[in-house]
Amino acid sequence: TKVAVIFGGVSVEHEVSVISALQAMSALDESKYQAIPIYISKTKEWYTGEVLTDIENYKDLDQLFKQAEKVVLEQESDDTVVLKRKERSFFSKGIVTAIDVVFPVIHGTNGEDGSLQGYMELLGLPYVGCDVASSAAGMDKVMMKQILRDAAVPIVDYEWFYASQWHQDQAAVKQLVDKIGYPVIVKPANLGSSVGISKAKNEDELEEAIELAVAYSFKVIIEKMITDLTEVNCSVIGGDYEEVESSVCEQVLSSDEILSYADKYQSGGKSGDTKGMESVNRIIPAEISDQATKQVKELAEKTFNLLNASGVSRIDFLLNQEGEVFVNEINTIPGSLSFYLWEPAGKDFQQLTDQLIQLALK
Ligand code: DAL
Ligand code: MG
Repeated sequence: TKVAVIFGGVSVEHEVSVISALQAMSALDESKYQAIPIYISKTKEWYTGEVLTDIENYKDLDQLFKQAEKVVLEQESDDTVVLKRKERSFFSKGIVTAIDVVFPVIHGTNGEDGSLQGYMELLGLPYVGCDVASSAAGMDKVMMKQILRDAAVPIVDYEWFYASQWHQDQAAVKQLVDKIGYPVIVKPANLGSSVGISKAKNEDELEEAIELAVAYSFKVIIEKMITDLTEVNCSVIGGDYEEVESSVCEQVLSSDEILSYADKYQSGGKSGDTKGMESVNRIIPAEISDQATKQVKELAEKTFNLLNASGVSRIDFLLNQEGEVFVNEINTIPGSLSFYLWEPAGKDFQQLTDQLIQLALK
């Protein structure tokens, strides 16, 4: 089975995606699957080639591009989609290979938000993970919260607005905070990895936080900040509403209230470090009560099902000092595919990727 692993892309999480994808490719069971790497550059060109499978090569992209081949996915016949070279020569024919299934490993914009999934639908190619609608709803923090709130899933108080509203009437937007109360966290509605996120304790900080967020997104969400919080994550796998399974819970440790992009991917790791997500300080299993653990796992499964998700997602939670549990967000293509949350229960990364591909082919 030929598995096209698509990664990179225009998202602010490009580098994280490269790490997650290389991890996933090396986890594939070689006796069953052939990984076909497809790297999307920041300028939206698609490449394939053996050179893409080594993290070292990403240190000099010009060299990488010289050795890789520009390609495109194209429908060849009713039931065949092929990877085609864009630049043919006398020696290299057009078709590189036919693809059986796609494994999207792009975090954020154009990869986790339904765009890539929509393209696969048009091509008629099966793909790992969430469909168009659940990807889109999962990526948009406002839509996600509206779905959760409608089902009475506990979430923190929030308000949201369009960037255009901010540009028209700053005072009106600032007033939204009156309903929540300081301190708040201001986030672009549709980015991942904490990019563009900041805290605000007063009006001056709020203005600054909003200016940053609107620079990243047309839509902004303001959330009530929980002080002395505990961050706990739980992963869910499945495809069928009936058959979901939740993982062990992890507790994420951070020096600050918001786990920054640097905390997540750059702390302690030199550039090109394939450890990626593993460089985050985490406790597995999370040191929370049995009751809280049970609640987190139940809410993780419920969130996954409400979004009609499939494949593997990671649902992130906030616990306040009293131990109350709030769903913070769902990541439908989590960093490193959250493989490390499945290992304690005996599902290694190879088994995880196998299950994901089998779910896609079902
Ligand atoms: N968006 C990143 C990759 C995560 O939350 O895992
Ligand atoms: Mg996230």
